[in-house]
Amino acid sequence: MTGGLIDTHCHLYLEEFDTDREAAIVRAKESGIEALLLPNVDTTTIGRMLDLTDQHPDFVFPMMGLHPTSVDGGYAKMLSETESWLGKRTYCGIGEIGIDLYWDKSWLKEQKIVFEEQLRWSIDRQLPVAIHTREAFAEVFDSIHKVGAEKLTGVFHSFSGNKEELEEIKKMPGFMIGINGVVTFKNSRLSEVIAEMTIDRILLETDAPYLSPVPYRGKRNEPVYIWKTAEKVASVYGLTAAEVAEKTRKNALNLFRNINKNV
Ligand code: NI
Repeated sequence: MTGGLIDTHCHLYLEEFDTDREAAIVRAKESGIEALLLPNVDTTTIGRMLDLTDQHPDFVFPMMGLHPTSVDGGYAKMLSETESWLGKRTYCGIGEIGIDLYWDKSWLKEQKIVFEEQLRWSIDRQLPVAIHTREAFAEVFDSIHKVGAEKLTGVFHSFSGNKEELEEIKKMPGFMIGINGVVTFKNSRLSEVIAEMTIDRILLETDAPYLSPVPYRGKRNEPVYIWKTAEKVASVYGLTAAEVAEKTRKNALNLFRNINKNV
């Protein structure tokens, strides 16, 4: 087997996996998954994420960042605590960061400050960003251009935008899109949209425990289900799931840092 598949975005350290986390890792490995990339949520999840990293240093690789839905008026303390962790360990990226106006619009100003500050961290440390965008493409693009699109690299995680939004991303060569179970949903137009993107800018992810692909939709997601997403993406490009795994693995290793695997 050449390489394997990389799940570029999963939250395996969350409590949804407390009863079977190790079994989920075994299932992932046995299916041909080679690595899991773990984006952080906020200061309450750092300990659990790093404990899991210490237990599986060749299989899980952490990112550091502050998620937009954890941002409120007390953001400054959380942000400085998050930054202090950056100097203590090695990370594969800055994430997850971004703007989310679906749940709550009242902290938009604060979300922008936090997002832009973390974009600057990524430039200073030469790490890619994993961006969470929900009902906020215009605001996210605005922040990226303000900080400097040409200096940034990263992924629009859980991409579910339209063709116009995809065109904006295509203009920024440092960015890829992360595709998960949403692409398998019956009412999703996402497969038509991603057909407009070349496969060298596609990453696969689960976002586990969320967004399970069909036929597991509505159940807890886990890394092994990523193969259902790989199959759907393969059908878009006229490839096999194994070919999609290999190509997106290469993309992941080109984008993310400090993953001790050979491209
Ligand atoms: Ni996430």
